[in-house]
Amino acid sequence: MTTKFPYQHLLGLRGIPRETIELILDTSRAMKEVHSRKVKKVPTLRGKIVVNLFYEPSTRTRTSFELAAKRLSADTVSISTTTSSVVKGESLLDTAHTLRVMGADIIIMRHSSSGAPHLLAENLNISIINAGDGINEHPTQGLLDLFTIREHKGQIQGLTVTIAGDVRHSRVARSNMWGLLTLGARVRMVGPPTLVPKYVRDLGVEVYTDFDKAIDGADVVNLLRIQKERMTANFFPNLREYNRLYGMSSERLANAKSGVLIMHPGPINRGVEISSEVADGPSSVILEQVTNGIAVRMAVLYLLVTGQRERSTEEGASSLLWEAES
Ligand code: CP
Repeated sequence: MTTKFPYQHLLGLRGIPRETIELILDTSRAMKEVHSRKVKKVPTLRGKIVVNLFYEPSTRTRTSFELAAKRLSADTVSISTTTSSVVKGESLLDTAHTLRVMGADIIIMRHSSSGAPHLLAENLNISIINAGDGINEHPTQGLLDLFTIREHKGQIQGLTVTIAGDVRHSRVARSNMWGLLTLGARVRMVGPPTLVPKYVRDLGVEVYTDFDKAIDGADVVNLLRIQKERMTANFFPNLREYNRLYGMSSERLANAKSGVLIMHPGPINRGVEISSEVADGPSSVILEQVTNGIAVRMAVLYLLVTGQRERSTEEGASSLLWEAES
């Protein structure tokens, strides 16, 4: 089977067809194999320049993109907007064009405004990766979550996945939702009624307000952080009440389906959406998600640079292995 990677940018998972998502996940598998080698580096992106441009804080996404680019032998630059000319009032487009004329091949951007990476994609003839835009999407987080689920469960089709918490302000929830629905999962969302948007019902998502009912029989529970930084009002009485109604505890986990995967994109708020016992317990794959993030981001960088041509998934993996040995 041949599959084309037809994109210059990765801005979101909405509208990405099943075969393209599967190509990224299959390529991530080959990239993960590189991680287990003694020399964790292949020359695939030698000579390419990858720029991290983050207007919001990040630990996991920024570091893993940097490691992913380094493992593919790209030159990497990380721009901290607090020490750049952004603080002097330089616009987003002027900043991006400045990086482009210095030779950037790919800009990875996180921004508080939904649609900011789309603006760059429309105006610059280089690849743009969305590392999280406002409350819109965080596509590589969605992909690494899909990859982690597939590694454990074999496939996504037919699984029941519960996404719990502050869905309203979560770009992770949206990217997960698009990817999971495309790959044939049954998606449930649960949280205070103020934090779960009604429109998701029209997309085929089952909406709950009772956490225990929402996790009953679920194969995966993905817990979300309360995004206080994006809240313009009080959406629930207090954190203690939130934890009582929507926090994942050992007691609740004991009633969940055997083999349930507990996921969280991080950073976690221990004692709010998840207890330490669950976060650090055997059902949790939270740190595995972080590790998988490097392989998935390597795959995305690799496909964006080498994509836009017909390939077989086997070719993607084997050419990578060959390049590593040469
Ligand atoms: N999950 C996630 O995006 O984490 P960071 O904010 O640390 O990048």
